[in-house]
Amino acid sequence: MRLDRYLSHVGCGTRTEVQKLVKQKRVSVDNVIVTTPNMHINNQVVKLDNYEVIYKEYYYFILNKPQGVITATEDSQHKTVLDLLNIADQNKKVAPIGRLDKDTEGLLILTNDGKLSHNLTSPAKHVNKIYYAKIQGNLDKDAVEKFSLGIQLNDGTKYKSAKLEVISNDEIYVTINEGKFHQVKKMVKAVGAEVIFLKRVKMGNLDLPEDLLCGEYRELTEDELDKLR
Ligand code: URA
Repeated sequence: MRLDRYLSHVGCGTRTEVQKLVKQKRVSVDNVIVTTPNMHINNQVVKLDNYEVIYKEYYYFILNKPQGVITATEDSQHKTVLDLLNIADQNKKVAPIGRLDKDTEGLLILTNDGKLSHNLTSPAKHVNKIYYAKIQGNLDKDAVEKFSLGIQLNDGTKYKSAKLEVISNDEIYVTINEGKFHQVKKMVKAVGAEVIFLKRVKMGNLDLPEDLLCGEYRELTEDELDKLR
């Protein structure tokens, strides 16, 4: 692969930007400063400003999404989840898998692996997502059963069977395997209460790590990635 393509893929900038980095003598290959952006890279060690830049075909990040940012890759008005990544990681061209509302927190995966993204969002794959919610109001007595049977809204929207676990008067867990617009909020409303706080805590077999603070992100480990496959 050409050096400029390699550098661009790992997030060092556009082709034009990385060509400039090479001209500025900031790039080395096997510890020799290079000046030709079109040189071919196989298994050599590539460094920018003396930091090794490791090529991976796919990148996988886990973010503990905070409230106030939208699940998009760009937006002219609002801060997006991509804005929470450092520039090099933003440049890796990752996109969020699925969508959390602006006021929802929690587990969000970002990747450039389209196949994984499809597998986790395709309705046919039935991947479970678990949400913790704080609620206001009284749930219908048969709310758990209604969730289990599947809920139909007055506007005709149908939600498949889901799991409602009541932890206390104002705290619940909801497990769904679809990803419809405002789904948890609407399902809870349909059984008498209102969601006032929502956090995704699990996707597939992957739990939101306890040590990943709200607003923080990091690369997934291989073990974590296996839990999504
Ligand atoms: N359900 C919702 O209502 N909102 C989310 O962000 C995710 C699931």
